[in-house]
Amino acid sequence: TDLSHIRNFSIVAHIDHGKSTLADRLIQSTGTVADRDMKEQMLDAMDIERERGITIKANTVRIDYKAKDGRTYVLNLIDTPGHVDFAYEVSRSMRAVEGSLLVVDASQGVEAQTLANVYTAIDANHEIVPVLNKIDLPAAEPERVCEQIEDVIGIDASDAVKISAKTGLGIPDVLEAIVTRLPAPTGDADAPLKAMLVDSWYDAYLGVVVLVRIIDGKLRKGDKIKMMNTKATYPVDRIGVFRPAMQQVDELGPGEIGFLTASIKQVRDTRVGDTITHEKKGTDKALPGFKPSIPVVFCGLFPVDAADFEDLRDAIEKLQLNDASFSAEMETSAALGFGFRCGFLGLLHLEVIRDRLEREYDIDLITTAPSVIYHIHLTDGEMLELHNPADMPDMVKIDHIEEPRIKATILVPDDYLGDVLKLCQDRRGVQLDLTYAGARAMVVYDLPLNEVVFDFYDRLKSVTKGYASFDYQMIGYQQDALVKMQILVNDEPVDALSTMVHRDRAEARGRAMVEKLKELIPQHMFKIPIQAAIGGRIIARETLSALRKDVTAKCYGGDVSRKKKLLDKQKAGKKRMRQFGKVDIPQEAFISALKMD
Ligand code: GTP
Repeated sequence: TDLSHIRNFSIVAHIDHGKSTLADRLIQSTGTVADRDMKEQMLDAMDIERERGITIKANTVRIDYKAKDGRTYVLNLIDTPGHVDFAYEVSRSMRAVEGSLLVVDASQGVEAQTLANVYTAIDANHEIVPVLNKIDLPAAEPERVCEQIEDVIGIDASDAVKISAKTGLGIPDVLEAIVTRLPAPTGDADAPLKAMLVDSWYDAYLGVVVLVRIIDGKLRKGDKIKMMNTKATYPVDRIGVFRPAMQQVDELGPGEIGFLTASIKQVRDTRVGDTITHEKKGTDKALPGFKPSIPVVFCGLFPVDAADFEDLRDAIEKLQLNDASFSAEMETSAALGFGFRCGFLGLLHLEVIRDRLEREYDIDLITTAPSVIYHIHLTDGEMLELHNPADMPDMVKIDHIEEPRIKATILVPDDYLGDVLKLCQDRRGVQLDLTYAGARAMVVYDLPLNEVVFDFYDRLKSVTKGYASFDYQMIGYQQDALVKMQILVNDEPVDALSTMVHRDRAEARGRAMVEKLKELIPQHMFKIPIQAAIGGRIIARETLSALRKDVTAKCYGGDVSRKKKLLDKQKAGKKRMRQFGKVDIPQEAFISALKMD
């Protein structure tokens, strides 16, 4: 295809502002997919994405569009993930295209992820077309939102396209804007092959499928290619494009976006952002800025029923086929038995994987408290990366500890500002900035990631009744007075409940945890002390009193079915418990005890 007839773009938006709905309309109105084959949210393939309405993997579609100028254009849409955990994937896929549609819900206005994503697009030198969506809603205020886009983001919004992705209003204008306002790609068909590895995933029939953007040169079936960062070489089996179903083609040239398969065994062998060239006569200049995505949040995943361990291992291996940024290593815990220590890009990533294991693979899991990676500097000068508080070395060997910090941006209506500031302050935050964008405040905080990984987002949602939006980026490591707090139940430490806390907050945190555990652990036939300790020092203590009564005593002489039900319920409860020493600890205790309200 002639380069001047290609337009490559992505859609950036805050979650729920209508990105997927707009993509569907573009696909449908150009006849790319016949109406009868049109499913809602065509691009969100996985069930879980569909259910939660979150786009996780980048997806792509090639659309042929006959424009008003009478020519037919090839429009390549790369759908980017909308969540902060996948920031690196977003920035990579943006580098594969020249422009973005900035979709803003005209009834909501600019939100935290609108900002994060549009800045990524600006960084990638995109031409940006603002699109105001949901103008069918009575609450839509397109003029006000245009002003807000200009004030907050600083781009011209006077030509914003006003649409309703739901009713289809304005969709032809979006297509024309793509053709007339976004630039065509540039590239040299005669230069050595240079292609960007935008994404990859495992397909049950084809093996690993690699999404590529050709920068220079040509890619043909049968070519021998080389990945410049991993140095691996492969003969290409197939190449093709997405319409959105896969369709094979003979070659891909500069500016084009498509896929290749090449008997690559695992997704792990492909690195997003890597440069693909020919093994012979290849380019010697790799694309700049390659970095692998690395997990930042870790937690233990243990089967509730120890007999499910092998199933869990299989399930984790299957999920890893498709997700190179999810790591897992076997772990044993005195309290929880055999399981895995898993690493994730962020909290949402963790949640998605846990959900898939429970739902798709039907395994009941105990998830331990999420932890970040601490840098433990030992007195002998060595530095350890600590992924699990249970592995903390002896305090006397430690010189100092560093923890990762983030820059968090929160947009919130004025009324809730006080609550948000308090929440950030409570989580050891340092305020960096406070500005106004219309009736909303934009607060920027430097926060320890540790204080955010657990329930920060839930708390933020609850104190602002869902009106706040949140985004973050890592800023680096900083030393602080951190200690490991242990919980002892019946005088035995429960490793899965160990956490890292700031020394000044240890006592309050310890007190809250033992109080919670007292509520969560059922009474036994004996007295159970529940304690929080730092090193050998007890900082909080509660005692769970002994129980004597038979649970069925109350229905003595009552009807038998009720009694049976009660016993069954007790049995089911047992299954979700973990025996620890002589004490049964319910599964939910491992997470609930850590929630800070
Ligand atoms: P993520 O995939 O979670 O990032 O969300 P998204 O930005 O793709 O939003 P999506 O397209 O899933 O739309 C979110 C909700 O808004 C859905 O319930 C849509 O039906 C609705 N919606 C999208 N466009 C419009 C519109 O123009 N008008 C109205 N009234 N509702 C819309």
